[in-house]
Amino acid sequence: MPTRFLHLALASLMLLAASATSAEPDRYVPARPADAGLYQALGERAGIDAVVAGMLKRSAANPRIADKFKGIKLKGLQGQITDQLCELTGGPCHYEGNSMKDAHEDLALTMAHFNALVEDLQQALDEQGVPFRTQNRLLALLAPMYRDVLKSPR
Ligand code: HEM
Repeated sequence: MPTRFLHLALASLMLLAASATSAEPDRYVPARPADAGLYQALGERAGIDAVVAGMLKRSAANPRIADKFKGIKLKGLQGQITDQLCELTGGPCHYEGNSMKDAHEDLALTMAHFNALVEDLQQALDEQGVPFRTQNRLLALLAPMYRDVLKSPR
């Protein structure tokens, strides 16, 4: 192969690799902010708080999961989840609640419960005008948590 052509081929391969990297979904890496700017894109703590309030309002009235929220003080839970998401998305907050495993252990949650909550979250994000791409960046951080939250895989 002529050298010039080889260089061209190599250059396009490198370009491809670079674009593949930037097109990859953002992943949560606890040791460093996984997704710079997500906290700001969500409207900082106030924006996150509004989304969590909307999610909990829906979940507490959602026939698929409402029983899980019976007797729970929603305002307190809202503050805990907001702190957690604020920290997770790179904001200046510190979540001091229980581990996800301890917090959900007695709730006997399944994937169906998890999906119902995520749908409530998506509706709350829509309601707050959060763009689809930003929604996906948040969901990518939350998805791996199902392992700690669920009692059984189904
Ligand atoms: C990625 C998914 C989830 C996240 C990030 C999350 C986050 C949290 C956080 C931060 C707390 C507070 C823990 C504490 O105060 O120590 C909590 C508690 C709680 N979560 Fe979740 N949660 C998730 C999934 C779910 C699902 C699927 C349900 C039910 C359908 C649920 C229902 C509850 C309830 C009822 C509590 C209160 C438990 C209590 O006070 O005894 N969560 N969650």
